[in-house]
Formats: sequence, structure tokens, C-alpha cells
Amino acid sequence: MNYQKKNFLEVLKGHKPDHIPFWFMRQAGRYLPEYRELRAQAGGFLNMAYNPKTASEITMQPIRRFNMDAAIIFSDILVIPHALGQQLDFVQGEGPKLNPLRSASDFSTLNFSKFQQVLAPVHEAISNTRASLQSEGYNGTALIGFCGAPWTVACYMVEGGSSKDFLNIKKLGYQDERALNGLMEILVESSAQYLIDQINAGAEAVQIFDSWAGILDAQAFRKWVIQPTRQIVDLVRNVHPDVPIIGFPRCAGQNYLSYIQDTGVSAVGIDPSVDTKWAARALQTLVPVQGNLDPICLLAGGDSLVMAVEKIIGDMKGGNFIFNLGHGINKDTPVEHVEQLVALIREHPL
Ligand code: CP3
Repeated sequence: MNYQKKNFLEVLKGHKPDHIPFWFMRQAGRYLPEYRELRAQAGGFLNMAYNPKTASEITMQPIRRFNMDAAIIFSDILVIPHALGQQLDFVQGEGPKLNPLRSASDFSTLNFSKFQQVLAPVHEAISNTRASLQSEGYNGTALIGFCGAPWTVACYMVEGGSSKDFLNIKKLGYQDERALNGLMEILVESSAQYLIDQINAGAEAVQIFDSWAGILDAQAFRKWVIQPTRQIVDLVRNVHPDVPIIGFPRCAGQNYLSYIQDTGVSAVGIDPSVDTKWAARALQTLVPVQGNLDPICLLAGGDSLVMAVEKIIGDMKGGNFIFNLGHGINKDTPVEHVEQLVALIREHPL
């Protein structure tokens, strides 16, 4: 059998790798000229994400350049609200736009009638990508599926897009907790189903992106981040007990600890604000850790990049560690800086 050890999965399972595994959040995207070319032809982000051939091709693009230890399926966290019937557009240069839902009666318009049908192309893209990884000889590269965490997805659903202050969703949480809970229940059920379907299609690990976990106080963090994530972890584990689940509660600060202890995730992604010395002591002793280079440090390059990489690897390599950025790669990042980063990680002795 054509078997090669997948170092990314080894680390997630608590084993020692042969080298430091790495991948980068948003590794398929606008910093790559070949992505921009496909984007110009495809006519819109959603057309790319829902075309299994295109989505799979875009997923492979960074792998062909950099041979990462993991590929992440090209999609978006907002396909869930879209599949539940909420209107969604990606306006170039402006980001996602949704028709905002702000009350229990708004949430009651969401439904599962087309859920599997809308998301079927993502599952097809996953099985295509597993086949491409195999046929193109990337036998050491694992495939990651993902979803947004209920809290972060709810932020976009209630605000109607990106937000500076998250006023509407926070106000709803304080004024009508029952209504927000109702939305969370829908998102827990749909997200767990979506992850299970991605694993059935060939995803070998999954990541839950909670980009806005850091805007909540400790009580709200427990209610809107930890509880729903715990429920998703339990639902996915019931069906797929051995598939690693990476949680990424961005900017969670000291709440990272309770997040790890109380959600049961297999591994955790850390953002650049977390000191890797503390992470090695406090977090890596509990679960494998992934992170956390500042994407703007990568964009800037030079000596700061070399020093930052040295610090991260120096602090983390004694335990289970996956090198990543602390947030998505910026679209203006020079490709040569990514090449340099890959060389720095590869050259580093374990
Ligand atoms: O990591 C990967 O390479 C896989 C693909 C992926 C995308 N989005 C593709 C994408 C993943 C994992 C995401 C997750 C996502 N999407 C998050 C969580 C991580 C994070 O960045 O905090 C969030 C919050 C979203 C929502 C979203 N999608 C926003 C706010 C935007 C617009 C802003 C931006 O950075 O462009 C998107 C669009 C989007 N999703 C693009 C890509 C490659 C850019 C689309 C384009 O214009 O070509």
C-alpha cells in the first residue's frame, strides 16, 4: 500500500513527528496569482466555493507550491447560514453581506429543507481533493474540513456582515437570551452535521473557527463559545471518535484554558497575542497547540520574521506542535515571504 506517515495527524494524535508540520490559515487565497486568475474567471466567491472542481483546484494550489502538511478545503464559514436559507453575497472588496436576522421570528425562517443539497458540492470537492492529493503524490498531506463556531457564525448572521462593535448580537444576548439560544441550537445541529458529512467525504481532521470568541466577557464566553462548541464536539465524536477536532477561539486570552478543559477539543489554535512560553507551559501540556505567527509579520518579512519564527519554534518544539499563523494570511503578502517562511520551518532541527 502506498502509505506515508502524515505528520500533521501524528501530532494531533499525540505522537512524535519526523519534522515540524505546518499549514497556514487562508493558505488558498488572494496572495496567490493563480488564485486571483481563477477568481477573475469564476465570477464570484460563492461560484468558486460551490463548484467542486474549482474548489478542489484552489485547495491544491498552495500544496503544489509549498507541499504543506495539511490542505484545508476551500470554502467559507458562511455556507452554513446560506444553506439554512439566509441570503448571502460576497461583495468584492467589502466582504460578506447577509440580510440580518435579529429576533426569534427572524430565526424561525431558517430551515433544513435544502441544507444537504446546497452543501453537497463541498463534500464532492473534499472527495475530489483526497483523490488529487493521492494521484499527485502528496501522500504526506492530510485534508482538513472546517466550520465556523456558532458564536462567530451568529455574529455575521445577526450583524448582516462584518462589524466593528457587534452591537446587535451582544444586545440580543443581553435582552433576549432565549432567542439567541434558539439560533445557537440551530447552528450546533447544522455545524455538527456539516462536519460529520465532511468527514464522511474524506476530511481527516476538522477545525472550528471562532474568530470572534475574544469579544465576550467570561460568563458570555462560557454560554456562547464553550457550551455550543462542547455540543458540537460531542455530536461529531459520537459518529467519528478518532477524528481530531481543532478549536480556534481567536483572542480568547486566559479563557483558552477553560476552552480546552471544557469543550474537549483535541487540539487548539492560538492567535499572536498568546505568548508561546505561556502556551507551552499552560496549554501544550493539555493538548497539541497550533500557531501563532502574526500574519502581518509574514507580510513585512526581513529580520523580524526570522526572529519571530525562531521564538515560536524554540518555545513550542518540545511538545506537540503544528506551525501556523495566528490568523489568516493577508492578501498583500509577497509569495517570496511565504517561501522563506516554509524554508525556515523546514530547516529548523526538531
Ligand atoms: O483557510 C483556507 O485557506 C480555507 C478557506 C477559508 C476561507 N474562509 C476562504 C475565503 C476559510 C477557513 C475561511 C474562514 C472564514 N471565513 C472565517 C474564519 C477565519 C477568519 O478569517 O477569521 C471568517 C470570519 C470568514 C468570513 C469571511 N469570508 C470574511 C469576513 C470574508 C471577507 C474578508 C476577507 O478576508 O476576504 C470572507 C471571504 C473569503 N473567504 C475569501 C477567502 C479566500 C476572500 C474571497 C475573495 O475575495 O477572493
